[in-house]
Amino acid sequence: MCGIVGYIGHREAYPIVIKGLKRLEYRGYDSAGVMLYDAESGIKICKTKGKVVDLEAKAKNGFTTNGNIGIGHTRWATHGVPNDVNSHPHLSNSGELAIIHNGIIENYAPLKEELIKRGYVFHSDTDTEVLVNLIEEVQKKENIKLGKAVQIALNQVVGAYAIAVFDKKNPNELVAARLGSPLAIGVGEGEYFIASDASPFIEYTSNAIYLEDGEMANIRLHKPLKIRKIKDDSLVDPYIQELQMNLEQIEKGGYDHFMLKEIYEQPSVIKDTYRGRLNANKGIVQMAGVEDNLEKFLNAKRIVIVACGTSWHAGLVAEYIFEEFARIPVEVEYASEFRYRNPIINKDDVVIAISQSGETADTMAAIKLAKENGAFVFGVCNVVGSSISRETHAGAYTHAGPEIGVASTKAFTTQITVLTMIALRLGKAKGTLSNTDFHTYLQELEIIPEKVAEALETNDRAKEIAAAFKDAPNCLYLGRGYNFPVALEGALKLKEISYIHAEGYPAAEMKHGPIALIDEHMPVIVIAPKQGHYDKIVSNIQEIKSRSGKIIAVVTKGDTQVRELADYVIEIPETSDALSPLITTIPLQLLSYYIAVMRGCNVDQPRNLAKSVTVE
Ligand code: F6R
Repeated sequence: MCGIVGYIGHREAYPIVIKGLKRLEYRGYDSAGVMLYDAESGIKICKTKGKVVDLEAKAKNGFTTNGNIGIGHTRWATHGVPNDVNSHPHLSNSGELAIIHNGIIENYAPLKEELIKRGYVFHSDTDTEVLVNLIEEVQKKENIKLGKAVQIALNQVVGAYAIAVFDKKNPNELVAARLGSPLAIGVGEGEYFIASDASPFIEYTSNAIYLEDGEMANIRLHKPLKIRKIKDDSLVDPYIQELQMNLEQIEKGGYDHFMLKEIYEQPSVIKDTYRGRLNANKGIVQMAGVEDNLEKFLNAKRIVIVACGTSWHAGLVAEYIFEEFARIPVEVEYASEFRYRNPIINKDDVVIAISQSGETADTMAAIKLAKENGAFVFGVCNVVGSSISRETHAGAYTHAGPEIGVASTKAFTTQITVLTMIALRLGKAKGTLSNTDFHTYLQELEIIPEKVAEALETNDRAKEIAAAFKDAPNCLYLGRGYNFPVALEGALKLKEISYIHAEGYPAAEMKHGPIALIDEHMPVIVIAPKQGHYDKIVSNIQEIKSRSGKIIAVVTKGDTQVRELADYVIEIPETSDALSPLITTIPLQLLSYYIAVMRGCNVDQPRNLAKSVTVE
């Protein structure tokens, strides 16, 4: 959580930092701040509770924005409520050091106590202000330069951080470091950029260095970058990566919100996901990470999937698919539960970690635990070069492109696409999937983008239904089999962006409790495609109908039986049961989107959430 940006070079820093912060607002948006330096005025700080636009508005009231070096921060509060004082950057007591920080300093309390004893005064409730004063204390005591002081201080710290520190005494330098929170450095001509991801500097340079955990960088004007290990001071050869991202991908492209743009991108990004990996005509489905480790997958006694939120829902869909296609037992775990419950992990387990951002702290911790216990860990990530993609033994990227709307949409369908391809590959290799079924699924998966595009034609219908139910206080989502996780995902989407209470349930389980909630005011969204347990779900719909629930059914085109019972139907194209989540999820995304818009909610940045959950 939190986004950080830094610039040092020949341009004005302010517009770069502000634009960068706007691009990173998905990481947190409860307060924002910027520090600039110029020789005449020295350090200048402007910060405020609220979003980056509020910061810009505040800066217009007399904040001088000149300076070629600057750092900025957009916050997702952990220590201390969101207010002006707790916003970053934070200054040290002398006013000479300024810091921005993404992460948590876990041992901040004893450090703070010690610093207070030495006469330090704290103005905010943040752990970050403790860190900047600790750096200052080290610097004074040892009479050393900023880089060394940061290194010594960080060796006393327990927790997670991506930081950038500035020292007025040496204004041609920024020091950056990371442990557990991401940090990219953009390398331009006579200029450097620092950011939580590469989006703030994409139009200036396509050369980026992703710091590894436990590394720090001395970034000095007109000097080569020095990267070293925080622990033992050893120098690291910087590995400069060419960025794959382009500017268009991180802009709204005419859509009102990133979420809608990302919903509409699904046909093309699903294609990107399987491009070069799937060829139905030739009967090929392969991914390098799977091929290189095929034996491990084939010998697995069990697959354990760890993930959070929407990625966890994709994992649940994968459970059905792996068990069906490859006949390997699958367990799907919330990463946050798995890591703390002393799980039984065997050497012949394959652990699959799913994460859009590749930075989720709980998923990362679950991976480390699985590795410590000898399991082979495979990552399914979207963000290239992310921490999880590097921590896992092998993996497959989803290639969905940047997902900026906080509510996950295209990440979900592309994760399912990758997982389906793995299951198909294993089913074929194990012989648990017949040749005919294998080829049929390959063909169907290849044309799924067209069906997703067709499902997007439910847009107007979703809008109409949204208008009818936008004021409902509660909502129930029901699905069976492959579409039970889709019911969970539909409910999560509605909750997080429209703040309507919603529950997802396996349709048959409704009788064991939730049915008590049903009356004429309760909208019940039932996912009822023709394949799967159609007759069973029709009975469930009857049960809702007899209790006067308002039925909104997602059905296969041409369906007549459910149409007679439902208040509203949304028709989607036909596909196989196993692939249906890729289609059924589309109208549910649209429905949540329009309900949230009609309720006046901030769709792309819902309250209390952040895109990348780097705290546990
Ligand atoms: C929901 C959503 C979250 C994420 C979860 C995991 O729309 O976005 O529930 O799915 O925080 O994030 P990743 O996939 O980045 O690990």
